[in-house]
Amino acid sequence: METRIYLNPKENEIEKAAECVRAGGLCVFPTETVFGLGANALDENAAKKIYEAKGRPSDNPLIVHLSEPVEAELYAYTTDDYYRLAKAFMPGPLTVIMKARDVIPKTVTGGLDTVAVRVPSYSVAHELIRKAGLPIAAPSANISGRPSPTRVEHVIEDMNGRADIILGGENCEVGVESTIITLCAQRPTVLRPGYITLGQLKTVCPDTVVSEAVLGKYEGQALSPGMRYKHYAPKAKVIILDGTQEAFYNAVPKSGDVGILCFDTDEKLKTLRNAKTYGAAKDSNMQAKMLFECLRSFDKDDTIKRIYARMPSDEGVGLAVLNRLIRAAGFNVRKV
Ligand code: TXA
Ligand code: MG
Repeated sequence: METRIYLNPKENEIEKAAECVRAGGLCVFPTETVFGLGANALDENAAKKIYEAKGRPSDNPLIVHLSEPVEAELYAYTTDDYYRLAKAFMPGPLTVIMKARDVIPKTVTGGLDTVAVRVPSYSVAHELIRKAGLPIAAPSANISGRPSPTRVEHVIEDMNGRADIILGGENCEVGVESTIITLCAQRPTVLRPGYITLGQLKTVCPDTVVSEAVLGKYEGQALSPGMRYKHYAPKAKVIILDGTQEAFYNAVPKSGDVGILCFDTDEKLKTLRNAKTYGAAKDSNMQAKMLFECLRSFDKDDTIKRIYARMPSDEGVGLAVLNRLIRAAGFNVRKV
């Protein structure tokens, strides 16, 4: 397939992309979190194309993107909590799961009776959805298993030849995918941590909890199918070392096939061969923004077979960084 790429899309080009979505095609677009690979969420065949393009397991459901929070009314059985969350955090990096209405095809929900909705804040995304006049189902626009794309170069790497249109315009400010909260459990439950933190959610829904699967291995019936899969992984094997900078320094092999993923403030580790940094130790926002880009950059050097990573904080946005890194590492965390 030939992919049309609009690096800085003008209004008429967003119009073309909207037309492509209406006709059942695939369009990549930037959001504040990561780039999305979008298709008409009401068209079963269009949604199927998403799974094919990504190589994604078909039981892993898609998020439905809307231009206004109130549109959720058409696709889900909304609740008071939904409107409270929408008022506080939408448009923005929050996805809410509710009982689905029948118009949403099972291909989109991965066979579940719930649906995930999100209203992205970036203008290209907003305009695309608005002009299409449809809800847009969109997972992150990476090949399944790879780090999510946060820059237009990443989507070109993964999706050139697989999508009809790629829209650029803005690189992703947040850098990790949206926070996912379900309103279908006994208490509002965070299934995937993101830029909107547990603390912020609790100001609106005080009894919100974080699912145990966020930092643990999937076992049994996870609330979110996506939690089952190894994710976000670069080609090299990732190992997280949990300990001080000194202990980390002593524990890492000093051989040539090793990469180091550490913080800007790790003065000693930064001097090691193949060291890359992704924000100061205390700057979880910057770590979130840079993590996937940094993981992808290790792929450029195929002499690197193992990446030793520092353990991020689990507080605030740090929990999102830790959640992604633990999955990139296939849950391989060692105390040092
Ligand atoms: O920031 C984001 O959310 C990005 C941008 C493009 O909007 N999208 C994204 O989509 O991260 P994706 O497909 O990579 O991740 C969606 C996650 C998956 O883990 C999936 O299992 C979960 O959402 N999910 C979707 N619908 C669900 C549902 N009905 N119940 C439980 N989990 C659901
Ligand atoms: Mg994804």
